Formats: sequence, structure tokens, C-alpha cells
Amino acid sequence: MTLDTAMDNSLTRAEISAMRRSYGEAGLETLPADPFAAFMSWLTEARANPVIVEANAMVLSTLGGDGDISTRTVLLKDVSEGGFTFFTNYSSRKSHAMEINPQVTLLFPWYPMERQVSISGTAEKIAQSESAEYFATRPWASQIGAWASHQSAPLASREELEQRWQGAAEKWPEGTEVPLPPYWGGYRVMPKNIEFWQGRYSRLHDRLRYELDATTNNWALNRYYP
Ligand SMILES: Cc1cc2nc3c(=O)[nH]c(=O)nc-3n(C[C@H](O)[C@H](O)[C@H](O)COP(=O)(O)O)c2cc1C
Repeated sequence: MTLDTAMDNSLTRAEISAMRRSYGEAGLETLPADPFAAFMSWLTEARANPVIVEANAMVLSTLGGDGDISTRTVLLKDVSEGGFTFFTNYSSRKSHAMEINPQVTLLFPWYPMERQVSISGTAEKIAQSESAEYFATRPWASQIGAWASHQSAPLASREELEQRWQGAAEKWPEGTEVPLPPYWGGYRVMPKNIEFWQGRYSRLHDRLRYELDATTNNWALNRYYP
């Protein structure tokens, strides 16, 4: 396909600016006092929604030492001990950023439900034993993939990656126990605030935000203008 034919099929500026939907009548009068209970109920509804693929996919934003923000999708794998856990490579760009600045945001964009949940908090590495426990539940090919990837490092060719994967697959053939790579594990994001957004008619959306009082450790629930 040439650039010209690609352009022919492209949206016009007017078509892009006209892209909008009006949101629903279903409101968000209130939420339970416990933000985790509210989150679990929305996650459960998102997972049950056939239009939403990977309801546990969330956008993680980090601030690197160079002052640059970077953002990417990761998968939520646990909600426990007051935090939200995902797994990654501890040598990746995101991990380097979190070592320097553990303040992060997480965003669940559940557009088909006219909902989003945004979380800001502090990322902490979880115990290696906890990472090992989760790693052992991953499919063999993904375990091998974790060994094969120097996540975020420059890669000369696709071939190099596949050779590395093959090498690891020969070392730990399918059916054998694949050990946890020393550079791979989880982070738990301990939230400071969690905001629930529900789209409403006339752009009068509902925004309810739980905010943690650091001295009492209690959550306050406040409503904000949309
Ligand atoms: C749906 C989806 C799920 C993903 N889940 C993860 C994940 O759980 N962990 C992870 O390290 N990368 C995950 N990725 C890849 C990341 O978005 C990203 O490309 C990678 O972690 C490297 O990011 P970094 O260089 O900013 O560290 C996922 C990507 C997508 C699109």
C-alpha cells in the first residue's frame, strides 16, 4: 500500500472533529465507602461486558529521571494488601523510572461502558516469593518469553529475539520448571486517590474521587465538576 492509497482511506479533519457520542442516563449517585469494593464491582462489570477486551488492561504512566513522562499498558494481576499489582521486567524503562520516582498513575479506560477509573499512588516492588508464585502460574511460552526479552533495550532484529527465545526454550523444555528470572517481578501501586468517572448526558458527567487522608488513613469520597 502506498502512502497515497493510505491517505485516501484516512479520516478527514472534519470527520475527526465530528467524532463524539452522547453518554447515558445511568448516574453515579454514590459509591461504597471502601474504594476497593467500588473498584472490584466495576472491574467485575467490565469483565462481564462482552465488548470489553482485557478489562484488566490499565495504562501506567511514570516520570523518568530526565523529567519525561512515559506511558504504556500493563495488566492488573491482583488487588490485595491495599494495592494494585502488575508484573514486568525490573530492567525496563518503566522500572528505571519507578526506581527514581515511584509516583505513578493507572488508568482503566472502559469506553464501551462510558467509564474510566484513574488511580494515582506509589509503586512498590513486591516480595520475590510473591513474584515467583505468580510466575509459576504463567503459560510456559510466556515464562520463556520473560527469559528471552531484555525489555526496553534496543534490538537489532526480530530474528535475534526469536533465537534468544529458542535458546531459553532449549534450556527449559516444555514441561520442566522454568525459574523466575532475577530481573522480573511485580509492583504494587498503593493508591492515594482513586477516581470513578461515569459519562452522563450533556457532558454533565459524574466524577467521584476517593482521597486518602495520610494521617488518619481514612478515605474521603468527594464529587468534582466534570
Ligand atoms: C494489552 C497489553 C498488555 C500489556 N501488559 C503488559 C504487562 O503486564 N507487563 C509488561 O511489562 N508489559 C505489558 N505490555 C507491554 C507494555 O505496554 C510495554 O510495551 C512494555 O512493558 C515496555 O514498556 P517500557 O519500555 O515503557 O518499560 C502490555 C501491552 C499491551 C498492549
